[in-house]
Amino acid sequence: MHLSDCHNIADLRALAQRRLPWPVFDYIDGAADDETTKARNTAAFDEVDLVPNVLAGVETIDTRCTIMGRESALPLVLSPTALQRVFHWQGERAVARAAEKFGLWFGISSLATVSIEEIAALTSGPKMFQLYVHKDKGLNTSMIERCQASGFDAIALTVDTIVSGKRERCQRSGFTTPPRFTPSAVWSYATRPRWALDYMFREKFRLPNLDTHVDEGTGKAVSIAEYFNTMLDVSMDWDTAAKIRQDWGGTFCLKGVMSVADARRAVEIGADAIMISNHGGRQLDGSRAPFDQLAEIVDAVGGQIEVICDGGVRRGTHVLKALATGATAASGGRLYLYALAAAGQDGVERALTLLKDEIERGMRLMGVTDVRQLNREMLRRR
Ligand code: FNR
Ligand code: LAC
Repeated sequence: MHLSDCHNIADLRALAQRRLPWPVFDYIDGAADDETTKARNTAAFDEVDLVPNVLAGVETIDTRCTIMGRESALPLVLSPTALQRVFHWQGERAVARAAEKFGLWFGISSLATVSIEEIAALTSGPKMFQLYVHKDKGLNTSMIERCQASGFDAIALTVDTIVSGKRERCQRSGFTTPPRFTPSAVWSYATRPRWALDYMFREKFRLPNLDTHVDEGTGKAVSIAEYFNTMLDVSMDWDTAAKIRQDWGGTFCLKGVMSVADARRAVEIGADAIMISNHGGRQLDGSRAPFDQLAEIVDAVGGQIEVICDGGVRRGTHVLKALATGATAASGGRLYLYALAAAGQDGVERALTLLKDEIERGMRLMGVTDVRQLNREMLRRR
């Protein structure tokens, strides 16, 4: 199977599975507990049907929109995700370059394997930094200051990882950062020599936004659950979020809001955007799908704050359904991570080409020439 055989995100996932050692694949693909929420995040889109209009003259269409003050070529954001160097040696650089080429927002994680400064120098496209609030206050301040100095366009504060979700695939595989060659996993690494050679002999794994302050995750191998539960600040609250917004002073997004009440509080603290998200089902299993929560949140705070529907997106029509419900944009992690793991930057570009085509085809078949024309009249719940 080659990249040219991949015709959708599911195909890219299959290719990633063939290329990655299983502990690494399971870290990306896996979620919390029974993974009910992860499945639900995508299935939710099937509960709503599109009702197209025809004879609309769809020769030229406009897929552009404005997200957090910057133009985006598509109503799609590449969500911040950790440890990309582990998935493919090109890591975050591949995602940043592909995002710039396609005119899209992307995010880097606090646990990115490329520094804030390098990413800023690499692309002038719209980019957000995802902040994890650590117990080490000096580290939080340092990350915010580095984003200011580098001219990041936005900070997204993640609020749904106050403790780690129970990721049972990672418990079984013993996945750590950096990856450890445990006896149970060594066979899977040996059967993926290309990944193993790239991992061992290319640029060394680092977490350069953290390693000035902490050893965990770079020098010392820990599981993501241990990292969250020992390093992150469990006392984080609305005052913390308001203070970070103030210290940062730039465009501010809260990532991981699910309730109407919290969406209203996000407006009150002056956030510019919220990402409705359950972290791709990796945290609270049993949580509702972002798409299912979208309508009530848009009804409550739409017009006062931008609302991004994050998670479960695997098709262009999923993006169209989110927009028709009232979202500013949709966003996702795995939709580009499978592709990164499958083939680096070429893979990410393939994923974005497929999604762009699907969005454009979907708009034409819906009889829509501009993404702003999408509205709830074009949707029916089953
Ligand atoms: C994530 N996500 C995430 N979120 C975040 O705020 N900081 C992070 O470091 C990470 N890391 C991360 C790693 C991996 C492997 C995945 C799959 C996800 C969550 C991410 O930003 C996004 O919310 C989800 O990926 C959305 O779900 P889908 O699109 O993957 O279904
Ligand atoms: C995850 C992180 C690091 O979901 O947010 O694995």
